Amino acid sequence: MRKQIAAANWKMNLTYQQGTTLLQDLVTADISLKENQSAVFAVPFPYLEMAIDTVHHKYNFFIAAQNCSDKKSGAFTGEVSAEMLNSIDINYCLVGHSERREYFNESNALLAGKVNICLANNITPVFCCGEALQTREDNKQNTFVEQQLRESLFHLSKDEILKIVIAYEPIWAIGTGKTASTEQAQEMHAHIRQVLKNQYGESIAEQISILYGGSVKAANAKEIFGSKDVDGGLVGGASLVATEFTAIIKALK
Ligand code: PGA
Repeated sequence: MRKQIAAANWKMNLTYQQGTTLLQDLVTADISLKENQSAVFAVPFPYLEMAIDTVHHKYNFFIAAQNCSDKKSGAFTGEVSAEMLNSIDINYCLVGHSERREYFNESNALLAGKVNICLANNITPVFCCGEALQTREDNKQNTFVEQQLRESLFHLSKDEILKIVIAYEPIWAIGTGKTASTEQAQEMHAHIRQVLKNQYGESIAEQISILYGGSVKAANAKEIFGSKDVDGGLVGGASLVATEFTAIIKALK
């Protein structure tokens, strides 16, 4: 069975104290994950070590970075490398969130480099893709997302692609309160899996987790996660409230 993942993306929110309290509330909540389920928390860089310490005894809770550099090391003031993340036992890193693509001009080619450097440092990239509203209105979302996958992931070998988690996040649904319908999400997830199948074969495509992101909350998580090709969610706003995110974790298949 594919891994089912509830991933929190705190973005640039919460003070250190608020973040610590939130994680403590989550580790003490009545959550017991099954073997195929994980909860992943993408927290701001200065909170990573606190977060690792807070969740380390909790079964299948993991900490992620929200970004890393595409460069190995050196004179890149303000950047954080995948090697640094690995050196403090970070297991996951978001790659190519739409906010990074939009505000920091991250291209598909640059993101291919970030994927490579994560894998070289034993970090699972959570590769984000998804179309803007105009692209969907033009009904070009399938080819758009396919191109994102092709240009950032399809240089990978079969062994490598198996280490990737994909998050489909339609930009028009992020932070807007407007979720994709269950049908829209399932349709795109099936398309992504088909594209993976064409490139890598069925058995590999069936093993890759594809998360949905965009206004997931406690009230809609169960329905969204219930679709055949949806393997959990990447959650922004609702991950900042312990009771909300607890319910989202519990909605995993
Ligand atoms: P949202 O954000 O849940 O607040 O829509 C999702 C994301 O950007 O990962």
